[in-house]
Amino acid sequence: MIKKGIILAGGSGTRMSPITKAVNKQLLPLYDKPLFFYPLSVLMLAQIKDILIIVNKGQVDQFKKVLPNGNRLGIKIQYAEQDKPRGLPDAFLVGEKFINNQPVSLILGDNFFYGQSLTKKLIECTKLTNGAKVFLHPVRKPSLYGIATINKKNKITKIIEKPKKTNSNLAVTGLYFFDNKVVNFCKFLKPSKRNELEIVDLLNKYKKNNKLTAEIIGRGGAWLDTGSIENFNDTANFVASIENRQGFKIGCLEEIAFNNNWISKKTIKDSINFYGNCDYSKYLYSIIN
Ligand code: TTP
Repeated sequence: MIKKGIILAGGSGTRMSPITKAVNKQLLPLYDKPLFFYPLSVLMLAQIKDILIIVNKGQVDQFKKVLPNGNRLGIKIQYAEQDKPRGLPDAFLVGEKFINNQPVSLILGDNFFYGQSLTKKLIECTKLTNGAKVFLHPVRKPSLYGIATINKKNKITKIIEKPKKTNSNLAVTGLYFFDNKVVNFCKFLKPSKRNELEIVDLLNKYKKNNKLTAEIIGRGGAWLDTGSIENFNDTANFVASIENRQGFKIGCLEEIAFNNNWISKKTIKDSINFYGNCDYSKYLYSIIN
């Protein structure tokens, strides 16, 4: 059972410069809340309550201004710093102590997931005890992503980075579940040509042992990009459309915690006081009244 999760929320955010020169991308507003609320909400939907958020050097205090710890959410949140973007698998080296030899989930701080059966799939994935599991999602332009080929049993048989030609349209998203061997595997990874540890190299270690499986979030769900200004904006508009149409918020952390019975109405009131007079607080108020 996976009880720990890491959000990798550092990075240089080059594609969104100059906006990201002074501010971490994950603190930017994706419509009505900071970007990192969305990946955090995914871990919470997976019932994961022990969470490490990895940020760039010197940025912990900024994040703590929004979320000092997990108390108001009934969970445990810790922060760690990555001194420079050494690649995605570096999360497991930075987080080695936090992981403490347990299985662990990783979500990238700029990844957005949404869809009807998402929670069920997430909870299914946390049952992993042996091997690794990756979330895949169909894309129209495979040449822009890491693309996985799977067999009938949802085993991944091949992963190719940005293939020019491929028979699969299943992109490797930024949501992964690993058994407790992950830290050890990462210790043997070598930096690639761009001088980063590569997630594909880590996944291939599991694939080699026939232990890499896929969870597919199909066309009824959404995995959206927030890497470039245009994609960031499109995703914000997606959130705005759904929220304004339905009246339900996407990625409202307190609502998820409340529905999971992790916090009381009184704790939601503490959050309302903390956020002050804003639409987010009004939404929280509507949940408890
Ligand atoms: P990327 O999209 O690879 O990079 P980036 O967000 O820094 O942006 P750009 O490509 O425009 O420079 O990273 C994906 C996510 O992972 C993002 O949320 C940042 C995070 N990340 C880290 O925290 N540390 C790292 O070492 C890397 C490579 C990424």
